[in-house]
Amino acid sequence: LLASAIALMPFAAAASDLTIGFSQIGSESGWRAAETTVTKQEVAARGIQLKFADAQQKQENQISALRSFIAQGVDAILIAPVVATGWDEVLEEAQDADIPVILLDRTVDAPDDLYLTAVTSDLVHEGSVAGQWLVDDMAGADCRIVELQGTTGSSPAIDRKTGFENAISGHDNLEIVRSQTGDFTRSQGKVVMESFLKAEGGDNICALYAHNDDMAVGAIQAIKEAGLKPGTDIKIVAIDAVPDAHLAIANSEMNATIELTPNMAGPALDALAAYLADGTVPPKWIQTESRLYTAADDNQAIYEVKKGLGY
Ligand code: AHR
Repeated sequence: LLASAIALMPFAAAASDLTIGFSQIGSESGWRAAETTVTKQEVAARGIQLKFADAQQKQENQISALRSFIAQGVDAILIAPVVATGWDEVLEEAQDADIPVILLDRTVDAPDDLYLTAVTSDLVHEGSVAGQWLVDDMAGADCRIVELQGTTGSSPAIDRKTGFENAISGHDNLEIVRSQTGDFTRSQGKVVMESFLKAEGGDNICALYAHNDDMAVGAIQAIKEAGLKPGTDIKIVAIDAVPDAHLAIANSEMNATIELTPNMAGPALDALAAYLADGTVPPKWIQTESRLYTAADDNQAIYEVKKGLGY
């Protein structure tokens, strides 16, 4: 016991001296708010100092935040990149300053030697799981699908679309008839769903695929206001598994969601600790799980557990 305590001491002592910067996208969704909460908890639990910057959905704010972290000489940077492209220059600046950068929950189109590791789910797989759920649920019946995309140019919007399309391809009974961004927000999910209902007519939409739960929850409101039953008249599958999605499934207003853990920071900080302690280089991709939840799960109980965790 003494030996293992001594073995842990060098990093434990070093951790309290560490300062890291975290460039968060904003607070567009319940999932994003949960990730911010969990990241702050994980950082505090390790005795690390945190410099937090909320980019309010703007890439230019994230680039400024990174430059500010570099100028302040932080020991490492965490970033959830709002869009996939346009990062090379600032990542090179961090590399020149010997500051390791870890990506959280979204990927970038940049050479992978510009960051230490990326902690993300398999975003294409999430879309495939959603698509496969619908393939199975429809069992060959015709279904006209509307799609609410995430933020344009973001890796989850690109990859979740690809995964879903891959899963339904070859199933001629399934067709995406409308697809538009709702920017990952509840309010835009509602507005865009209203426009889908108006353009298609509620009876002509059989299912909604939303790239996140918040847009699905906004759409549920629009569907109810149109006099239809969400989850029955229009099947709904989305991604994140936030508490409100579990509640909607428990209330039979939504059908399925795929879990994205908000705890990306835990694995990221463990990898950083090992890297700083003895140079252990983590894999370029630390993959988090993507579990499907449906009405077969005890969604009321899961809702309560997740609420209790502050999600
Ligand atoms: O990058 C992860 C996505 O971003 C989540 O699915 C969504 O809710 C968030 O805004």
